[in-house]
Amino acid sequence: MASSSGDGEETTEETAEGTAEGGSWSLIGPAAGLSSRRCRLMYSPLGSASDVCLFYVKGEFFAMDARCSHSGGPLCDGDIEEADGVLQVFCPWHDYDFDLRTGKSGTSLQQQVYEVKLEDGDVYVKHASRLSLEPFPTEEKKKKKS
Ligand code: FES
Repeated sequence: MASSSGDGEETTEETAEGTAEGGSWSLIGPAAGLSSRRCRLMYSPLGSASDVCLFYVKGEFFAMDARCSHSGGPLCDGDIEEADGVLQVFCPWHDYDFDLRTGKSGTSLQQQVYEVKLEDGDVYVKHASRLSLEPFPTEEKKKKKS
């Protein structure tokens, strides 16, 4: 499942194919502000390979690994199209398509997608690490501060 609104309880619905299991919910921010842009990059402290795109398309949020599973293209910069009711993002580097809901591609590739929920007007994304709209300080910067 790519998106839901709920009461804060972890979902017990079946995990859609391509959706990462486990992890914890990160509060990303108010839906009203996040819905003003089609895509935002959410940073992971695990490094840029673990950053995640938060898409807002047709009134729904979707979360997907930000780096294309083909060769690492920036999916936040991709075009989004709907075909037969399926919303897809097209990688800007080689034009591979990925279903925003499942991460499936017309190629054999699979992009990792993540659960999104709305709670009290805020958007949460479930991921193995924390996610933030602001980059996490690097270890060096942290050492300088302390
Ligand atoms: S890097 Fe995305 S399609 Fe090649």
